[in-house]
Amino acid sequence: DIPVVRTISELRRYRETWRKDGLQVGFIPTMGYLHEGHQSLILRSLEENDVTVVSIFVNPSQFAPGEDLDAYPRNLEHDLTFLYGTTSSAKHRVNLVFAPTVSEMYPSGIPLDVSLQKGAFVNVTGVTEQLEGHCRPAFFRGVSTIVAKLLNVVEPQTAYFGQKDIQQTVVVRKMVSDLFFNTKIVVVPIVRNETGLALSSRNAYLSGPVKAKATVLYKSMKNANLRYVNEKELNVETLTKEIEDEIKGASDEFKVDYVSFNDPEDLHYLDTIDPKKGCFLSMAVYVPNVFGKSGTTRLIDNYVFERQ
Ligand code: PAJ
Repeated sequence: DIPVVRTISELRRYRETWRKDGLQVGFIPTMGYLHEGHQSLILRSLEENDVTVVSIFVNPSQFAPGEDLDAYPRNLEHDLTFLYGTTSSAKHRVNLVFAPTVSEMYPSGIPLDVSLQKGAFVNVTGVTEQLEGHCRPAFFRGVSTIVAKLLNVVEPQTAYFGQKDIQQTVVVRKMVSDLFFNTKIVVVPIVRNETGLALSSRNAYLSGPVKAKATVLYKSMKNANLRYVNEKELNVETLTKEIEDEIKGASDEFKVDYVSFNDPEDLHYLDTIDPKKGCFLSMAVYVPNVFGKSGTTRLIDNYVFERQ
């Protein structure tokens, strides 16, 4: 079985023995409900390190009041079976799962209302106000804070993040370089299902037919990228309109939150793509879920436009 550690002190005892043995440690932070997207990060770490640690922690400080913190799928048994089953030889298996409690990670407590939160937090500015941070001002403060805490506990030589959450990778890189964390950040490509839908723990909220239609997110981005590559279309308004029309065409129940083209370095919003720099196309779309008549789930996806 894969050992599960619940406390920081126990994790640190393991870490000390690995240090004594001179082992390379790779780390994958997750919120659990693991799928093949997480798995690709894990496999990459298993290839590149002597020891691989996966954390499973649904981080309250990155959820705002009214978001799906309570509903977020949690199932440690499922996750351990998944980890055991997909990395089948002992040589090629996750060495440790870190699954702390909320009070272990937030000894000062963590009320959902940001104005009541006490204690230390990490705030990255400049790349957190756009996109996912625009309507959720405390979201990346929550992400940066928990990633900082986890890096300080696990002290990995390398940590792995998915391009699925592209702004998160920019924010984490900025935090790590500005605060001199001694960890290398590796970004792993998006894993999609056979229809193109990006894998996500939140896909568990969707019915089969909605999942099938949601493949339009990827299709519309791919088509926009073809227009950029083949026809040199650089106008953001034009491309955005085409994407939004395609999404509307797939289902009138899909509601676009944003479609956006951003600079790959500082994430500023673009009107025109600079082909010498390329850009990030990203989107968030509300789709109907299985929780009753008006329930919606917010899906995010993105596509990197390479420099030409
Ligand atoms: P979570 O959503 O569980 O994702 C954990 C990691 O898996 C992230 O780096 C995410 O980008 C990556 N991932 C998820 N789906 C993926 C996919 N389809 N393809 C490739 N990678 C994928 O992201 C978080 O948790 C949290 O914000 C966390 C970093 C753990 C901090 O709480």
